Amino acid sequence: MAALQMTCGPSPDVASTPVLETSRLILRAPCLDDAAEIAALANNRKIAEMTALIPHPYTLEDATGWLSSLPAESGHWNFAIAERESGKLVGACGYGKRHDLGPEIGYWVGEPFWGRGYATEAVRAVIDHLFSATSLDEIAAGCRVTNVASRRVLEKCGFQWTGVALFRVRALGASVPADQFKLERRTWASLRAWGKSSLPKVASARP
Ligand SMILES: CC(C)(COP(=O)(O)OP(=O)(O)OC[C@H]1O[C@@H](n2cnc3c(N)ncnc32)[C@H](O)[C@@H]1OP(=O)(O)O)[C@@H](O)C(=O)NCCC(=O)NCCS
Repeated sequence: MAALQMTCGPSPDVASTPVLETSRLILRAPCLDDAAEIAALANNRKIAEMTALIPHPYTLEDATGWLSSLPAESGHWNFAIAERESGKLVGACGYGKRHDLGPEIGYWVGEPFWGRGYATEAVRAVIDHLFSATSLDEIAAGCRVTNVASRRVLEKCGFQWTGVALFRVRALGASVPADQFKLERRTWASLRAWGKSSLPKVASARP
């Protein structure tokens, strides 16, 4: 399968990044061979204005620079999200410390792939990985208060709203209000357990 082929150029955290498989997606370490696809998808103002660090316009050089700079530190993971069937790259997802806030999960999906549930499926896979592979008690996330789609993704993944903070958006050259969320390990464990139970049988109340 194309997405699983690790014939990538050098990327510092390739060795430590696991491959996560979901029903429709493969999440794997991004590599220099992904640069053209990432640049084509991320060169979108709708993405740049909803994320902290993606500039606009976003060039092939930006993608190559990002891929070459991926941190090798422990506690950071970056994943390219690809379709299992086609191998096409659809977006990216990561967890780690941002410049201004504590560690949190972040993600984007290319516009041609919006509305298929890909972000939710990918974020759930990264959450499962983080709580399985680390001793984290909670995972943080944030999105602009205007970002209804991202807020919905976080809600579908079990995140709970904790407040509002300002965060800097590079493409805007300004700080904007962002809803803050957290997902506690115990909530995640409960949701996982709940998913295994079957729905109750509902009998008619009529005599
Ligand atoms: C936010 C983003 C990742 C969502 O990706 P996606 O793959 O389309 O997300 P999903 O399909 O998993 O879920 C999107 C949900 O938002 C809902 N949604 C999308 N636009 C909406 C809108 N304008 N109003 C209400 N709900 C909306 C969808 O209906 C869906 O919810 P549902 O399954 O209950 O119907 C994608 O739009 C994106 O990358 N945007 C730009 C970058 C960004 O915002 N990144 C996140 C930074 S915090």
